[in-house]
Amino acid sequence: MSAVSEKVLTIDALLEEHRVIHPPAAFRAGALVKDDRVYEEADRDLEGFWAREAERLDWFRRWRRVCKWDPPWVKWFLGGRLNAAHNCLDRHVATHPDRVAYFWEGEPGDTRRLTYRELHHEVGRFANALRRLGVRRGDRVAIYLGMVPELPVAMLACARIGAVHSVVFGGFAADALRDRIDDADAEVLITADGSWRRGKVVPLKASADEAVKACPSIRTVVVVRRTGEKVPMTPGRDLWYDDLVKAETSDCPPEEMDAEDPLYILYTSGTTGKPKGILHTTGGYLLGVSTTHRLIFDIHPEQDIYWCAADIGWVTGHSYIVYGPLANGTTSILYEGAPDYPDKDRWWSIAEKYQATILYTAPTAIRAFMKWGPEYPARHDLSSLRLLGTVGEPINPEAWMWYWKAIGGERCPVVDTWWQTETGMILITPLPGVTRLKPGSATRPFPGVQPDILDENGNQVAPNQGGYLVLRRPWPAQFRTIYGSPERYVEQYFSKFGKGIYLTGDGAKRDDHGDFWLLGRIDDVMNVAGHRLSTYEVESALVDHPAVAESAVVSRPDPDAGEAIVAFVTLKAGVNGDETLIAELREHVAKKIGKLARPHAIVLSADLPKTRSGKIMRRLLRDVARGRALGDVTTLANAEVVEEIRALARTRHEE
Ligand code: PRX
Repeated sequence: MSAVSEKVLTIDALLEEHRVIHPPAAFRAGALVKDDRVYEEADRDLEGFWAREAERLDWFRRWRRVCKWDPPWVKWFLGGRLNAAHNCLDRHVATHPDRVAYFWEGEPGDTRRLTYRELHHEVGRFANALRRLGVRRGDRVAIYLGMVPELPVAMLACARIGAVHSVVFGGFAADALRDRIDDADAEVLITADGSWRRGKVVPLKASADEAVKACPSIRTVVVVRRTGEKVPMTPGRDLWYDDLVKAETSDCPPEEMDAEDPLYILYTSGTTGKPKGILHTTGGYLLGVSTTHRLIFDIHPEQDIYWCAADIGWVTGHSYIVYGPLANGTTSILYEGAPDYPDKDRWWSIAEKYQATILYTAPTAIRAFMKWGPEYPARHDLSSLRLLGTVGEPINPEAWMWYWKAIGGERCPVVDTWWQTETGMILITPLPGVTRLKPGSATRPFPGVQPDILDENGNQVAPNQGGYLVLRRPWPAQFRTIYGSPERYVEQYFSKFGKGIYLTGDGAKRDDHGDFWLLGRIDDVMNVAGHRLSTYEVESALVDHPAVAESAVVSRPDPDAGEAIVAFVTLKAGVNGDETLIAELREHVAKKIGKLARPHAIVLSADLPKTRSGKIMRRLLRDVARGRALGDVTTLANAEVVEEIRALARTRHEE
């Protein structure tokens, strides 16, 4: 029996991190939220809070009712009518048409600038083209593109005519694309001749062709010209984007959508089995992402140059590159390529060039920059930055401190934002003008959000004890179902503790001040000598050592301890790894969090296996540590490192 399924009550949280950083006075002075009133308001009257926020959107028809919570089913803004693209474009064109919506930078160095007027124009033309292709309200359109302006254009064009988009990350291979098209039963696929990644062309069209061979639902493939590669075009099915929009005007009246009409499907790979089509609807979603974006990133749309460096193929890009920022009339940076192309300072040169004021990225990127060294950001003037954000995994306190110092110059609050594809919007996060920050903690629930931490029996755990993170109250941007699998929605998210309690699948603890610390996925928890340990804490203790950039911790069965800890460690550039260092690292963990957590074995490796969105795949490392065959590798981005690690682990075990 694995540690996961054993009926042990809580997680032992051992890591103690006491650093506290107050919002810098200069930041606080200009912040949108300067005190706790917004929390009090939302606690007192949740529906009133969201209804007031909803006034910031344009509605064709006002809602009759704010929220109907019939667990586990929820509806927001019942009877309200609106259009997401209209909210993201038309109202800004009316008031500030020449504000830039996107500064786009291609990987080879070419650039484009789209004002709100220009973006509106492009979206209108493509929306008309889609209508001409027979796409109607409710139809599904698959989008498989790199980070080019046509990606948000295509999403908004769908939203304008009421079609449901399903964006598939451009780094996925043909099989993954095929499964997603098939599940959504999409009629049109929008792709490109290719996209640029680290100086090479990613052959999107070739993968699209292969996928579509097995997708009878696809009638039309629209192809954006990006790299200029010669690609085969299937007559009667494939059309060039340029040719298609040439004939269209930009005048395209938006569909009046019901607040609960679907806006998009986005697939997230469950730990096992078929990917889940997470379905988001129009009104609550748009409201949730625009309010959180505005308050958490402290958006001053006339001044800010905001950069969310995620890929639009993930929910972070949907919510915080497309819908949230555009609903708020923000100017964003959009970058096509790799952070280390042509050199490891590419991001910092972009931040300097466009004078970015806000940067939102993931711990995996921060740890890569940490590994490469502070000299790369130091080459550039980053003084325009005033706020930093992170999302995607628990951030190790040392990585947080590095971000705060090397990128933020100890001037920019760091907002560690916890959320999921399913939640649609950020739910646990600091508000940068008021929240006392703690490196490694996502701090407190967003106004109106009610998380809790439960043991196996559904009882609340004591402070500093780890347990299951759950959500007790609905929020507007939550997903409404799994497309085509409502029973899986109920079973997976609303059955463990009852119909009204959303199970996040994450472990967490609350400290004495009520601040939340995320402990990683519950499935990754280890059982060592009768204690349930989170991999995050052992990893953070390792990253705390000055030689270490990144680490992944797993366990393998052990006759004495039940499970023994195996740590995979990546060192910073220029550090030499030897047996002395390994011994030192083991002691470092013992000193930081206790002998219990001292790794049994440490394997030094140049990289760690990650998902395509940059999360460490501990599941595969468990297979390696246990010397067994690898499980499902479809979502693995860097297959070569697993082989390397396997070889390294084998040598160590034989020693
Ligand atoms: O485990 C949590 C982790 O990422 C999961 C959600 O992943 P995904 O649906 O791909 O969405 C990623 C972008 C929202 C969560 O269940 N996670 C996300 N943000 C954090 C986090 N873990 C700790 N701290 C965070 N800030």
